[in-house]
Parts: sequence; C-alpha cells; structure tokens
Amino acid sequence: MFIKDLSKYKGEEVILKGWVSNRRDSKGLVFIVLRDGTGICQCVGDINILGDEVFNKAVSLGLESSLIVKGKVIEDERQIGGFEVQLSQINILQDVKNYPISKKEHGVDFLMDNRHLWLRSNRQWAIMKIRNQIIFSIHNFFQSEGFVQMDAPIFSGNACEGTSTLFETEYYGEPAYLSQSGQLYGEAMAMAMGKIYTFGPTFRAEKSKTRRHLSEFWMIEPEMAFFDIFDNMNLIESFLHFVIKDVLQNCQNELKIIDRNTEMLESSLAPFPRLTYDQAVKIIKGEKDVNGLNSITSLEQLLIETNDKFEKIKNEISDRELKIKTPGMKKGEINFNQNKIDQLKNDLKETEEELRNIPQWINSAKNFEYGNDFGGSDETVITRLYNSPIMVYDWPHEVKAFYLKRNPDDNRFARGVDVLAPEGYGEIVGGGERETNLEMLTAKIIEHKLPMEAFEWYLDLRRYGSVPHAGFGLGLERLVTWVCKLKHVRESIPFPRMYGRLLP
Ligand code: 4AD
Ligand code: MG
Repeated sequence: MFIKDLSKYKGEEVILKGWVSNRRDSKGLVFIVLRDGTGICQCVGDINILGDEVFNKAVSLGLESSLIVKGKVIEDERQIGGFEVQLSQINILQDVKNYPISKKEHGVDFLMDNRHLWLRSNRQWAIMKIRNQIIFSIHNFFQSEGFVQMDAPIFSGNACEGTSTLFETEYYGEPAYLSQSGQLYGEAMAMAMGKIYTFGPTFRAEKSKTRRHLSEFWMIEPEMAFFDIFDNMNLIESFLHFVIKDVLQNCQNELKIIDRNTEMLESSLAPFPRLTYDQAVKIIKGEKDVNGLNSITSLEQLLIETNDKFEKIKNEISDRELKIKTPGMKKGEINFNQNKIDQLKNDLKETEEELRNIPQWINSAKNFEYGNDFGGSDETVITRLYNSPIMVYDWPHEVKAFYLKRNPDDNRFARGVDVLAPEGYGEIVGGGERETNLEMLTAKIIEHKLPMEAFEWYLDLRRYGSVPHAGFGLGLERLVTWVCKLKHVRESIPFPRMYGRLLP
C-alpha cells in the first residue's frame, strides 16, 4: 500500500510504511507527516484511540523515524495530496534522534556530505523523479523510432574526446582508460544495425570546479548510418521535443515542488534556431541582435538590475536583524525571521556571484576571438537571448574532435553540432557527421597525436562498406539540470562524482 494510491482507498483502513518527515502535536492529537517514497501524507493520532503509552512515544518521534502505521483514509482537500489518515495503530521500527538534516537552511557542502540522507528531501525527490521520467522517455523515443540499444565498453584502449580528460586505469598490467564516450563503438554498431543508441556512464577527468562538469556522467549516444548533419539536427530536435513534452505532461507535481516556471520548457517545443558558428560568433560579440536583443547591452542592463537586487537583499537582512532584537518578541517569530535571514544570506551570496560573473561575461563576449571554441561564458551569453535551445553547427575544424567530417563546400569547417540550452545553461548535446574518408581521418589521428594502432579497428569501418553517418551525445545530467533549472549539475545525479568529491 503506497501513499500515491490513497485515492483508491477512501474510507478504508490501510497500512502505510515510511518515514517521519514532520511531526507536531496539539491538545491530545499528534500530526505525523509520513513519507514513503511515493508521496507524503498527514497521519493524525488521537490520544484516546492510541492510548497514553503509544501517544507519548509518537509525540517525541524524531525526523526520519521509521514507522508502520494503520489507519482510515479520509478525503480532505486541505491536506497535501488531498487525503489524511486517522491512525488506529503505530508500530515504531526506529525512533531517530538528531537526524542531521533539519528544517533550517543548510550550506550546500554540508548537504553534499550528507547526500545519502539529503536524497530523502522533497526537492531532491522531485528532481530524481524528473530524471527518471527523462530516462524513460529517452528509451521510449529511440525504441519507437526503431533504434537498437547497444552497450559500449567502459574499459577502453583509445581516447575519444581528447587526451586531456582521460582517467587512466590498469587492465591486467596494461594501461587502459575509462570511456569518455561510447561513440566510436557506436559507429561500429550502427554499421551492423543501421540505427543504434548507447546509454551508459562516461568519465572525464575535469580538474576544475564548474557548475556544468561531473567526472562521471551518463550519456545517450545515438548513431545512424546514412544520416548527414542535417538529418542529425532534425533528429536531435524531435528527440528533445519528445522528452520535454513528456516531462511537462507527467511531472507537473514534481515541477511544482521544485518551483520550476515551465514557460521556457513550453517555448522549447518550437523548432530550435540553427546557426552556423560564424553567425553565432557575430551574436556573441554583439555585432548582430536577436529579436531586438543585443548580447552586450542586455548584459549591461542585467548588471544594473543585479546591483539593485543585491542592495535590496542587504537591506532586508538588516531590517530583519533589527526586528529580532526587539524586546518581547515571541520565540516563534524570532525563529521565523532567523530562518528568513539565513535564506536571504544564501540569496545574497548567489547575487554576489552573479555580480562577479556578469562583467566577466561581458568581457569575454566583447573579446571573443574568431576561431576559438565556445567557453561556458560564451554559451551563457548567447543562450540568454533565446527562449528555446539553439543548435550551432559548422565549427572551425581545429577546435573540434578528430572524427568530424569537413564541410564539403568549405574545408575550414567541421560538421559538428552543439545544442545549447537557454537560460544560460549552454551545451547539452554535442554531435555531428563523421569523417568517412580514410586519408582525412588518418591525417587527423596523426595531427591529434593519437596512437594509430589503437584506432586500426575504427579505420576498418572506413575500409569495409563505409557510408555517410552521424550521431550525437546528450549529457543526461546537463539535460536534467536545465529542465529542473538547477544551479549546479551536482543535484541532477544521485551521487555526483566531481573534482574533489568521491564520498558519499
Ligand atoms: O561534446 P561531447 O564531449 O561529445 C562527445 O562525447 C561525442 N562523442 C558525442 C557523440 O557525438 N556521440 O559530450 C557530449 C555531451 C555534452 O554535450 C554534455 O552534455 C555532456 O556530454 N558532457 C558532460 N556532462 C557532465 N559533465 C561533463 N564533464 C561533461 N562532458 C560532456
Ligand atoms: Mg562538446
């Protein structure tokens, strides 16, 4: 019996098993908010029904105490979930004292150290449910489009995405790497099956702390025989539309819990603007506007607004700090204000960070050098101007991976495509059409100083029945982070692995 199914048991006795997510009592009644992983529900215990002994234990239950309870389901629209359970029995499995995560504001380092417990919180629960929906939708999409799911190895003898982010390990006395991407294997599998996708963990040694980078993340990599870059972009677009639509349809409750304004997700169901690298650079540098918006002036405006916001928060903090010092103030009111102050201080820290970031964005946009790859701030600058993801294609070949095909009409460009998410999120997908010319590919492997012998098998794909083909990689956590509008990618995965964190 699960809380999510309570509506089927109106007026009936049910047994619920779960954890105490809140508890209070008043005048012979105890109110326990029970959480069972499918939902939360208020359970009410009456001293006259439970008896003194059980009641007295119930009123002192700590947060996250584990219980099995029995009671009658009563419809009550004022309650979370629309139901309340009137308790007839409480079986306490464990009465917990001093659960580390309390209802007050905690710093993010503390929460990350307690990730194994933090996952139980309402907000984290909702994020994980949305992640689950996204995974389900991804499989649904590809399966219904006739793709075959195949798995690439994780131990790998060759680099795929450059040698600077390889995790080296040992494989029976030989050096090996943890896979950065399943793509090269995906290409081999596509030549066997036509259309395939891999969905597995990938590893990048990213020795920097950013809000976008994990050391271990999950990637979905479709690869399609007889697709060119334009077919690839069409597929990316319909794929992302499919997933976003599913989230909007099936995760309304979760989106509400995390306070996600869904306007941007809805507007992302429209076609994604497609820009060449050249066009995108002009927009970043402020040489071309997007629907009347200029990258540089809109950032300058944002800087002014953020300064105002900073002052406002500061003032509110000092107002409330004064208030709690007023003589005769009730304890409840002091607590309320203190909690607010803690929240405001967090907001202040974030606003301070924005105030540091915006001038950097302006600077890097103004000074962007044609020919460079986009950095995080360039992506932020351009995506702020759109209300859906955008696709940027035809990149200078020097800055992209060795396996990308050149544009046949302009040899300077490689047929890669990046999908950049709006609201400042940036790259969520990287992909492109693959080089099929054996000589060009060999030259690239040499240019990138990659060991030829490790790529002989890959070159075979160009020797035996070579065909045009393309594919892409979607970073699952990057998508979840944007869809949920999280501040940092670390909240999009149950147990993040990042520079400086291996526990819990
Ligand atoms: O752009 P990337 O490096 O492309 C590839 O790996 C290709 N082989 C994919 C392909 O064409 N089959 O990575 C693809 C995506 C990025 O767009 C980003 O979403 C995600 O993987 N990603 C990361 N996510 C979290 N942390 C990191 N350190 C990431 N690095 C890449
Ligand atoms: Mg990329």
